[in-house]
Amino acid sequence: MKLLLVGGGAREHALAWKLCRERTVRELVCAPGNAGIARLARCVPLDVADPGAILDAAAREQVDFTVVGPELPLARGVADVFAAAGRPLFGPRKAAARLESSKVFAKRFMERHRIPTARFRVCETPADALAAVGGGEFGFPVVVKADGLAAGKGVTVAPDRETAEAAVRAAMVDGRFGAAGASLVIEECLTGDEASFFVLCDGRRGVALPSAQDHKRALDGDRGPNTGGMGAFAPSPLVSPALAGRVMADIVQPVLDGLRSEGQEYRGVLYVGLMLTRDGPQVIEFNVRFGDPEAQVVLPMIETDLAPVLFSAATGDLGAAESRTAGDPHVGVVVASGGYPGAFETGYEIDGLDAAEALPGVVVFHAGSGLRDGRIVTSGGRVLTVVGRGGTFAEARVRAYEAAACISFPHKHVRTDIGMKALAAVDDGAA
Ligand code: AMP
Ligand code: GLY
Repeated sequence: MKLLLVGGGAREHALAWKLCRERTVRELVCAPGNAGIARLARCVPLDVADPGAILDAAAREQVDFTVVGPELPLARGVADVFAAAGRPLFGPRKAAARLESSKVFAKRFMERHRIPTARFRVCETPADALAAVGGGEFGFPVVVKADGLAAGKGVTVAPDRETAEAAVRAAMVDGRFGAAGASLVIEECLTGDEASFFVLCDGRRGVALPSAQDHKRALDGDRGPNTGGMGAFAPSPLVSPALAGRVMADIVQPVLDGLRSEGQEYRGVLYVGLMLTRDGPQVIEFNVRFGDPEAQVVLPMIETDLAPVLFSAATGDLGAAESRTAGDPHVGVVVASGGYPGAFETGYEIDGLDAAEALPGVVVFHAGSGLRDGRIVTSGGRVLTVVGRGGTFAEARVRAYEAAACISFPHKHVRTDIGMKALAAVDDGAA
């Protein structure tokens, strides 16, 4: 088949890398893509925020199937636009995508269907929200979440009342997140380890992929501001087969059944952000797409062809589809522009890409890279994800960091402790 892949980050580079080598994929077009993807697929310009433009691109290119990477087009209804035009697309409809695009919807949905999650209150006015954080109902720390999509910045885990009140005011009075902050979820703070759990869903059933763990803070030791993700590893040693079975039974199947009972079908990948608490796994968040940087470590683990499975999920029948995965550890280190997630400079030439890619067990995925006079230059905050694969997490880490060390540009920033948690968990016998 001829396939259109929508997006232009390292997650989409990992998807392109996997899909372009598969038997059933005759041709791959990526929109808008990036400098790394351009080496694997033809890239065409596209505004991914515009579902109509995505449909036009699919029609113009006469593709058989479209795979959507980021959440924005899904939240804007690209799956509905494609369904109306009779074109297959991988990704949930707008109503089901509210699991990610509205935290109020997600929390109320989980409450209706008894899916384990933190206790919460929905607040529509500043007075309500200030009362909810000040009343001490949830104790401290307390979590303040903007309802809508806020580019990963809409959540504050507030250690005290002052911080919580400031978060409420920033969202509801100062309008920091625009309409996305008009309603808030105030919730209890859960404690435990976090893991990202991915499931391919056809509306009725799901097939679990390897789980992963990411590193959201900018600096070593999980310090500094939250980012889109500074690295990830897979499989998560914390997610045993028994725990995965429990997540499927207690969370994923109730999500699919709950949506169906409300007239929706979830087709696409469901990303369950889990907190592994002493009382069992609880849902921190849902996303309606692959995680980034988790996709960069999960997708290379899949040994079987992905395109037919994505197509079966999109067309409502996973049937007997299984995706066989290699169990060997993968560690992905994000190479970022210094200053990210704050202000940073771009346009620097990137050296050492070939040397990094020549190392055994290494793949380099591009995110914020561009071409200038035939040379690859930095163009974003997260520039690359460098992935190492090994027989152990220790080996995967050494490979990823050797490759990351080959790469240079001014003010390059990498965390040095990506994957250390996996080593610690394996030592603890969690695996
Ligand atoms: P989200 O944007 O929903 O992924 O939340 C960002 C981060 O905030 C999560 O990865 C958690 O680390 C943290 N977080 C969100 N909700 C809670 C909660 N109820 N308890 C503790 N931490 C939370
Ligand atoms: N890695 C977190 C996310 O993709 O939302």
